[in-house]
Amino acid sequence: MKGIILAGGKGTRLYPITKVLSKQILPVYDKPMIYYSLSVLMLAGIKDILIISSERDISFYEALLGNGVQYGVNIQYSIQKEPRGIAEAFIIGRSFIANSSVALILGDNVFYGDAFYKILGNIGELESQAIVFAYYVYDPSNYGIVEFNRQGEAISVEEKPVCPKSNYAIPGLYFYDSSVVDKAQQLKPSNRGELEITDINKMYLYNKQLKVLPLDSKTKWYDTGTCKSLHEASSFVRKTQRKGKAYVGCIEEVAFRKGYISEEQLLSLARSNIKSDYGRYLIGLTTKG
Ligand code: TTP
Repeated sequence: MKGIILAGGKGTRLYPITKVLSKQILPVYDKPMIYYSLSVLMLAGIKDILIISSERDISFYEALLGNGVQYGVNIQYSIQKEPRGIAEAFIIGRSFIANSSVALILGDNVFYGDAFYKILGNIGELESQAIVFAYYVYDPSNYGIVEFNRQGEAISVEEKPVCPKSNYAIPGLYFYDSSVVDKAQQLKPSNRGELEITDINKMYLYNKQLKVLPLDSKTKWYDTGTCKSLHEASSFVRKTQRKGKAYVGCIEEVAFRKGYISEEQLLSLARSNIKSDYGRYLIGLTTKG
């Protein structure tokens, strides 16, 4: 399976912060926002990764993450000229995807939770053409919303509904088979002028191929697109890490635990951050700690 991180967009809800700076490079507490989405793909066992961002911002990600070899993964980059919608990722990434299945994650999404990590670890075994998640929210009109019947089967999906049929939002992490490229190419822009990921989900749902996995109440999901949610996500990460738990979104640790890099390589990554708590945490993961 391949993975795409969508890290473009305009970030207008964070203005003036994102007037000259890419949203997904901003800190969520102690690390760049994009670390969190990258760590999710790595936890799902994905090593071939495409980062898509705007012409203005792509060089930040290249400078930060390079070709990924230091984390034992392969990272490539593509430009989205204008934010024409989330589903355009599959058109921009079509030659990267080729005949593979693909995971798409939004670069401003933060996930946390043991049950969620367990699902990620087993995602390859969940035989399905399309897998998305459902997360209970109190403001459903702001999200893509999924409705279930009494048997717990998904029966409708709607983008930002005025009269939501449920409180279950679909977070920004989607797993599809390779037919998603053809599906994306068939899409027409919506009323707001975007190629909608919800329309892709509708196609899979119509074909009875959409598996929707509800996330348990202990799983946390943040879409860090507003100052309030960015602040909440940062506080959550700080609180969790202060409890002495594993760091959230720590790509070096995931790479090490997954066996993508050796202890020697982890140590070298740690040394390059040695003046920060982050670097010292990495040292602590090694036998030198
Ligand atoms: P949004 O939060 O919907 O859009 P945005 O980031 O431009 O923010 P705002 O509404 O404040 O102007 O996008 C969700 C994620 O998807 C975010 O990581 C940006 C990314 N994205 C793209 O990269 N390209 C796109 O065309 C769109 C619509 C979003």
